[in-house]
Amino acid sequence: MISAKPITIAGAGLIGASIAWRLAQAGATVRLFDSGRVGGEASWAGAGMLAPGSEFLRQSQWTELALESLDLYPGYVEELRQESGLEIDYVGCGAIEYPGAPEDWPAMRERGESQRAYGLACEVGENELRYPRDAVVDPRQVMDALAEACRRRGVEIHEGAPLNHYDTQGAPLVIAAGAWSGRLAITENGKKVPLPETVPVKGHLLGYRLEPGTLKTILRRGHTYVLQRSNGYTLAGSNEERIGFDREINAKVVADIAERAARLCPLLEGRAHEEAWCGFRPQTKTGALALGRVEGTSVWLAYGHYRNGILMAPSTARRIAEELVAG
Ligand code: GLY
Repeated sequence: MISAKPITIAGAGLIGASIAWRLAQAGATVRLFDSGRVGGEASWAGAGMLAPGSEFLRQSQWTELALESLDLYPGYVEELRQESGLEIDYVGCGAIEYPGAPEDWPAMRERGESQRAYGLACEVGENELRYPRDAVVDPRQVMDALAEACRRRGVEIHEGAPLNHYDTQGAPLVIAAGAWSGRLAITENGKKVPLPETVPVKGHLLGYRLEPGTLKTILRRGHTYVLQRSNGYTLAGSNEERIGFDREINAKVVADIAERAARLCPLLEGRAHEEAWCGFRPQTKTGALALGRVEGTSVWLAYGHYRNGILMAPSTARRIAEELVAG
């Protein structure tokens, strides 16, 4: 039975807005809050690489959620297109990963073989792993569609409205504020609700304007990746820095990514990038996902997805919404 009380969601990025949409579809009254705009900083910044193959090197609590989401994605995108009337670029292009150095290959090959055992589609080649089910989605278009679908479903959207200090008074609250989640001061009838702490993991991305269809698959080597949207816009990433919410674009990091990306993808050799930006991956202090109900409270957690929030949004939304609907 769906909660008769309004359900409040802190954070209108891809995860928070997906949960809001699913709950509204189930008939709940939903209020979605964000300190900025719908779209959140991290979701807007993400590359949209749906590529668990090179992200989850062994089976863990993440792999089930990631694989479930990869399966859900085409249907999730199609349903969102229909409910919003907006286009979303989704390309089932697969991925190829190369070893960083020849001596890395034996461990990589072993990893590919073990991944197949827990359901991750992986083809082991001569000197590369191929992940035929990996895909690319445009997270900014997903966000626009989610915002519209939420509006059409009657979700109350509050932008520029952070829930920094909030007492639930026993009504359901979902925390999906990414790297900012651990900073919220949440109480339930005056009693502090303990939240896993969060760390922002800064990453840079570069954008290039290329001819459509020039890159047919995601390319990866170590921390370097290159992927292309249907319109030819090509993204190269990335790096990781744990230096707080620092929004400065670091020219040295940008030059390093450009150089690594051109080595991985010759199409980028001698080409200048058009844009460079950065975002904050949300990691918890322990590295574990913060997912599900805080025992004995009416608070649900949906954060800490680190490098894979865009990938794991559909399965996270499904689980949290199902738990809330079940009461
Ligand atoms: N998911 C890729 C990244 O976080 O850079």
